Amino acid sequence: MVITVTLNPAMDKTITLKGLNIGSVNRAITVREDIGGKGINVSKVLKNFNISSLCTGFLGGELENSFIHDFKKRKLNNDFIHIQNETRANIKIVDSLNHTNTDINEPGPYISKEELKIFIDKFKSMCSKEDIVVLSGGVSPSMPDDIYLHLTKIAKEKEAFVILDADGELLKHGIKACPDVIKPNNHELQKLLNLSDISEENIINAAKVLKNKGIAKIMISLGEKGGLFVTENGVYKCKGLKVPVKSTVGAGDSMVSAIVYSLINNYSDKETLRFATACGAASVALDGTQACTLQQVHELLKEVKCEIKEEF
Ligand SMILES: Nc1ncnc2c1ncn2[C@@H]1O[C@H](COP(=O)(O)OP(=O)(O)OP(=O)(O)O)[C@@H](O)[C@H]1O
Ligand SMILES: [Mg+2]
Repeated sequence: MVITVTLNPAMDKTITLKGLNIGSVNRAITVREDIGGKGINVSKVLKNFNISSLCTGFLGGELENSFIHDFKKRKLNNDFIHIQNETRANIKIVDSLNHTNTDINEPGPYISKEELKIFIDKFKSMCSKEDIVVLSGGVSPSMPDDIYLHLTKIAKEKEAFVILDADGELLKHGIKACPDVIKPNNHELQKLLNLSDISEENIINAAKVLKNKGIAKIMISLGEKGGLFVTENGVYKCKGLKVPVKSTVGAGDSMVSAIVYSLINNYSDKETLRFATACGAASVALDGTQACTLQQVHELLKEVKCEIKEEF
């Protein structure tokens, strides 16, 4: 089973308008609402890849029912902990005149110690041997910084495979439990290891440091420049594809979905990075948080070349 964890989900409200005027009344042309949060976004892409997954995390307040309704509509399995406080909404303002995207993200609800304990107990009972667990995204301010360290330990004790995609303190603590794969972008890796710059050499060396600490595979996304994959087998590089960029939101989540897909299909490290690069490109070529399809990815995959920089 694939389990995706979203500790701070959000209803993404995308408002499209022609010309955003700060400080005055703006009229929306279209408004749409989509359930979101990184783990949920990974599940949406996996659904398009014919892989079923179970979404979990915290939900509460008025938006909880909208989430449950949307999960049902999308045929996404879900098992969330009900909390007292309100799940957040994030506002995305798309200005079609000036081609800008402006995001306003709420911090997310306070989660009590009791609610966290209920979640941890549920997570323990959910994970089992050979599951693939995706821990992805930020958390609300009430959550301890070492939450991913804790969840990784639990999942690994159950012999599940863990993929971690997080930033800052969450990543810093999370890696201490040696998740099987991490997917930082170049800036997140720079922050994690205090790198002086993000030259390719520095990034590869930094990933090797993490590998020596026991993280088997490190996939580093480089935005439009593509990605690097440092594993126990070698160092691989794919250049980014030239695609019309509609929205870069969710490109990293598509990459994480690609890692899950590649694991299930026994892809080599090289094929995994190629597939992940194509998924990232497919995602940026789509509007908003729309999930890419297998057909779109396979079309782009033909163009992805992979350079083997080192083999061990
Ligand atoms: N402008 C672009 N053109 C082509 N491909 C892109 C572009 N931006 C991102 N990608 C693809 O998507 C992958 C992931 O992108 P990125 O490095 O921006 O992830 P991220 O910073 O983790 O994003 P997220 O906001 O989803 O967390 C890249 O490795 C690349 O393959
Ligand atoms: Mg990311």
